[in-house]
Amino acid sequence: MKTKIIDIANAKGGIGKTAGAVMLSRLFSIDFFKTLIISADRQCNLDSSLGYNKNEDHLQYNSTYGLMIDDNLTIDECIRPTIFENIDIILSSYNLHEIERIIYKREINDTNFIPELILKKKIDKMKSKYDFIIIDTGPKYDLLMKNSLAAANNILIPINPDLYSQDVLVLLLRDIKFIKDNFNDSLKINKIFINKYKNISSHKKIYEDLRDIFGDQFAKTVIYDRTIIKNNIELDKNSFISKSKESIEVIAQFRKLAKESGLYE
Ligand SMILES: Nc1ncnc2c1ncn2[C@@H]1O[C@H](COP(=O)(O)OP(=O)(O)OP(=O)(O)O)[C@@H](O)[C@H]1O
Ligand SMILES: [Mg+2]
Repeated sequence: MKTKIIDIANAKGGIGKTAGAVMLSRLFSIDFFKTLIISADRQCNLDSSLGYNKNEDHLQYNSTYGLMIDDNLTIDECIRPTIFENIDIILSSYNLHEIERIIYKREINDTNFIPELILKKKIDKMKSKYDFIIIDTGPKYDLLMKNSLAAANNILIPINPDLYSQDVLVLLLRDIKFIKDNFNDSLKINKIFINKYKNISSHKKIYEDLRDIFGDQFAKTVIYDRTIIKNNIELDKNSFISKSKESIEVIAQFRKLAKESGLYE
C-alpha cells in the first residue's frame, strides 16, 4: 500500500484536529497499520497525548522545528517511538513559531527556494516506511499549514456543528484550493466530517444543511461528543487500550469514517 499522507486540516481552533489525529493513529495501530505522526503545532498537545509531556520534550532540535529550517536534517533522524505500538512521532517544539522568520529570510537570498515545499521534499526523501503519515497543525493558516497541505495527498476536515465553524470552512476551502493550484495537484479533500455531534435537533439541522451543500464531500459518519475522546487525548493514556464498550464504539466510529473517507482499501 502506498503511504497515505493525511492532513487533518482546519484553521479554527479547538474543533478536534488533534483528537482526530490521536484517534485515527490508535485505530490504525489496532488494525496493524504503521503510522508516523508529524506534530506541527507549537502547543505540542499531540506530543503530550502520545507520552512526550515533559518540558524538555517540547524543546528538541530533532523535531519539526529542526526539520523545517535545517536542510541537512532528515525525517529519519527526527523519528521517535511513542508509548503506543506502531505509532511513531516527529515532535513539535515550543520554538516552532520562529521558523517563519528564518525561512522567509532565506527565501530573500535564494530565489529557487520554495518555503511551502520544505516538508514535502523531506517526506519524499524519507527511508522509513509507514502505511499512514498524519500531520497535525495548529489553528492558523500559516507556513506550517501550507507545508502540510502541500505534502499531503488526503485531507480530512473536522468541523463542529455550529455557525462559526461553517464560516471558517468557506475560508479553508479557498486556502486548500490555492495550495492545490500552486503546489500540489494531487491534493484531494476526502471528507468534511462533524466532530462533537450530539443527538439534538440543532445538530441534526446543521448535519442536513452541510450534507445538502457539500454532497459526497460530506461524511455521513459523525463523531459524537464523547468524554472518552476528551479523556483519551488529555488525561488517561491507558484508556486507549481499555476494552470498555464505549472505547470499542468510538474506535468503530473512526473505522467507519476511515472507510467512508477512502483511507482503508
Ligand atoms: N469528539 C469529541 N468528544 C469530546 N471531546 C472532544 C471531541 N473532540 C475533541 N474534543 C475535545 O475538545 C478539545 C479540543 O480538541 P482538539 O485539541 O483536538 O482540537 P484542535 O482542533 O486540535 O485544537 P487546536 O486548533 O487548538 O490545535 C479538547 O479538549 C478535546 O479533548
Ligand atoms: Mg490541536
